Amino acid sequence: MHLPASYLQKRTSATDAMRHVRNGDSIIVPTGVGEPPTLLSALSEQRRNFQDVKVAQILAVRKYGYFDPETADHVRHVALFLGPASRAGAQAGWVDFIPNYFSEIPQQIERGQIPADVVFSMASPMDAHGYFSLSLGADYTMAALAKARAVVLEVNPNVPFAYGNCLVHISQVTALVESDEPVFEVGLPSIGPVQEAIGKQVADLIDDGSTLQIGYGGIPDAVVMQLTHKHDLGIHTEMIGDGILTLLESGAVTNRRKNYLPGKMVATFALGSAKLYRFMERNPALEMHPADFTNDPMLAGQNDNLVAINATLQIDLLGQCGSESLGSVPFSGTGGQADFVRAANRSRGGKAFIVLPSTAKNDSISRIVPVLSPGTHVSTSKNDINYVVTEYGVAQLRGKSASQRARELIGIAHPAFRAELTAQAKQMNLL
Ligand code: COA
Repeated sequence: MHLPASYLQKRTSATDAMRHVRNGDSIIVPTGVGEPPTLLSALSEQRRNFQDVKVAQILAVRKYGYFDPETADHVRHVALFLGPASRAGAQAGWVDFIPNYFSEIPQQIERGQIPADVVFSMASPMDAHGYFSLSLGADYTMAALAKARAVVLEVNPNVPFAYGNCLVHISQVTALVESDEPVFEVGLPSIGPVQEAIGKQVADLIDDGSTLQIGYGGIPDAVVMQLTHKHDLGIHTEMIGDGILTLLESGAVTNRRKNYLPGKMVATFALGSAKLYRFMERNPALEMHPADFTNDPMLAGQNDNLVAINATLQIDLLGQCGSESLGSVPFSGTGGQADFVRAANRSRGGKAFIVLPSTAKNDSISRIVPVLSPGTHVSTSKNDINYVVTEYGVAQLRGKSASQRARELIGIAHPAFRAELTAQAKQMNLL
């Protein structure tokens, strides 16, 4: 393709692009594989030349050189959700963690609560009209583009050009760096018999024609694998991954019966295989939008029969979910969990599922507990929770009293813990 002068003038090396970063800056980077490896590697190499630079991102998938406690005063990671690259740093205190609802991160950026001085993002090659697609993460990056002093794109032919509100014009770009390494691939989590049993219980409650949001973790993927025989499912989700691709290939997803954006799948970031990224290329059935669109409970809830499937780590007898910490030790983040639980509650015929194995650590700990472990970060509140599913069954909590909830939840706890939970519930005057 003929590259116009505006492109050629902005094209530079990754090392040179670092001159757009100033001491004290906050650099916004998209979710997961939308992070630009060449730019973040160059920043890591030069990190000792900077002072108090922050790199803010919702989910880092790779551990670059700047993930280094020794140089955290130069460049540090600010996590909006924790994954393998950032978890240990947050637990040790040299990675900052900002609690949030994913749907509200764009607004926090717009209002300057999360500063956005510079954007570093992966992007597709430019089209004939001068647009790049931030297909891998429209998330909060589109909001940051509007605020940033400098927008630096890593343009890679392996990044798909997807449609939706994820397009950036060359006139909005400060500098371009070209790279061609394959987009990072993330495999499906391993699914064991417990996850499969939970998946089956949830799948049995999903009607043909439902619109799905699929969360993060092994069980949401286990549910997806059991939906291939359904009909006319739709997708309005946060993350598009390979599970959704499997559903499309099986014919279960048509998006035909969605009443909000019928015929279109909607997501805010992509995380999966090269096959998924190829599928996204100029696909008219897919739109990538910022998270204040995809995750807004009022908008997502306009789909009738919206089904949200999200995982938790621990739940108390009122239904409060500690989905993102183990006691006071941070583990992940709220992400879109509360957003989509609320969206499904708003949706006519909607169902919000919170899924969890009944135990952890080889059946030695019940994950259904009388009270959450001290310091637990609550992700979904007692006022929002509805269906809770373990391998032992389904508890339906919305509209139920504290004692009805305790009874329902004890009924789906591991049998070895039910007597103890009942005794504790009695002590708490719940039974
Ligand atoms: N006590 C002690 N350990 C516990 C525990 C508990 N109550 N619950 C879980 N664990 C341990 C597990 O044993 C496991 O440890 P291991 O890796 O050593 O086996 C680990 O914590 C993770 O638990 P698991 O159930 O396997 O989690 P997961 O991989 O399915 O992930 C999360 C679940 C963390 C991703 C999910 O709870 C989360 O982040 N939810 C909030 C965000 C969200 O829902 N986003 C949705 C929109 S994308």
